[in-house]
Amino acid sequence: MHDSHPTATTASARTASARTASARAASPSLVDQLGRPLRDLRVSVTDRCNFRCGYCMPAAVYADETKFLPSSHLLSFAEIERVVRLAVTQLGVEKVRLTGGEPLLRPDLPQLVAALARIPGLADLTLTTNGYLLAEHARAFADAGLNRLTVSLDSLDAAEFAAMSGAQRKLERVLAGLDAAVASGLSPLKLNCVVIRGQNDSSVVALAERFRGTPHVLRFIEYMDVGTVNGWQASAVVPAREILDQLAQRWPVHPLSPTYAGEVAQRYAYDDGQGEIGMIASVTAPFCGDCHRARLSADGRLLTCLFATGGFSMRDALRAGASDASLLARVRELWQARTDRYSEQRAAPRTGTGRRRLEMYQIGG
Ligand code: GTP
Ligand code: 5AD
Ligand code: SF4
Ligand code: SF4
Repeated sequence: MHDSHPTATTASARTASARTASARAASPSLVDQLGRPLRDLRVSVTDRCNFRCGYCMPAAVYADETKFLPSSHLLSFAEIERVVRLAVTQLGVEKVRLTGGEPLLRPDLPQLVAALARIPGLADLTLTTNGYLLAEHARAFADAGLNRLTVSLDSLDAAEFAAMSGAQRKLERVLAGLDAAVASGLSPLKLNCVVIRGQNDSSVVALAERFRGTPHVLRFIEYMDVGTVNGWQASAVVPAREILDQLAQRWPVHPLSPTYAGEVAQRYAYDDGQGEIGMIASVTAPFCGDCHRARLSADGRLLTCLFATGGFSMRDALRAGASDASLLARVRELWQARTDRYSEQRAAPRTGTGRRRLEMYQIGG
């Protein structure tokens, strides 16, 4: 196995660039204080979830539904569409990911997908789900124009899966959801596995084995200190290097180039040609340097980092009748002032406003 990190740009990334050249031309100068453009918008469509993963929404803290937003506080589909349209056509955003909570809990979500899919210049429209409701809905998302899909999957052991999803949820429903997504043409999928020491770290080989020989890309994610409720401890983080070494002992791998600049996962291919895996090392190898992601929380706050506090309420501005021009001016101003690089500064003592950070389920992964 080689040790270097991938740096070059691939043909597929160049194709994506060409497709979206017009979107970029619309805002040649929108970069933040560290020279990073705005390319990617992640939209949380609900803060609710039917799982209770301990690293995100621990069951002990979220025993009932009272901690979640009333539906009037959520952005409507029309409001989301307006923000996305402005971001894509005026600000250079090329990729939109719908997240949650669990996005499939939002009624009629394929209608939003269909509306977003019609926005000119949006090169990549995707969604991250826990897969529990996918068997019923995969076809509708494919028909609505979703480009691709990422499904969270932390274990293939039914008991371990139930323990990690915190709601005794059934693994087989998620696996049926994967089959339905493939049957609906949403292949290749990405599978996201958060690895936690003492919980699922001994299951990574079984997961890799299951998806070797398929076109799907399994990604292992380091457990992050997002939010305030998961009781994160550094000792629970399994470094990506350790996971990779464990896998490579069985199936040697070599690094691949990123498919786009600033890709979150480091890509690796099995030497025997049996597919690809990814490592998301946000703790041990942060990727803030190329971070071009903005986030829209379920209640419509625009955030320039996963670890941001506060945020600018697009919802309040929209509901106060703001014009497109004033919304755009505000977002440009926010992005131009952006200095976020939390993961690179994690080790340093905390500074800042002292305001509470948002939870992962409020702003999506
Ligand atoms: P692709 O478009 O398929 O490359 O997806 P992605 O990797 O951008 O998105 P995905 O939602 O699959 O991200 C996977 C995981 O990476 C998330 O669940 C987070 O754990 C982590 N992650 C994604 N974006 C960020 C980020 O901006 N900062 C940090 N620290 N972690 C991130
Ligand atoms: N650390 C890393 N990833 C997390 N996710 C949620 N909480 C965390 C965390 N603390 C990711 C999971 C899930 C996605 C929605 O968010 O990968 O698939
Ligand atoms: Fe739900 Fe995803 Fe959070 Fe798990 S990680 S509780 S599936 S939002
Ligand atoms: Fe981007 Fe913030 Fe994540 Fe760094 S910590 S990669 S700046 S979202």
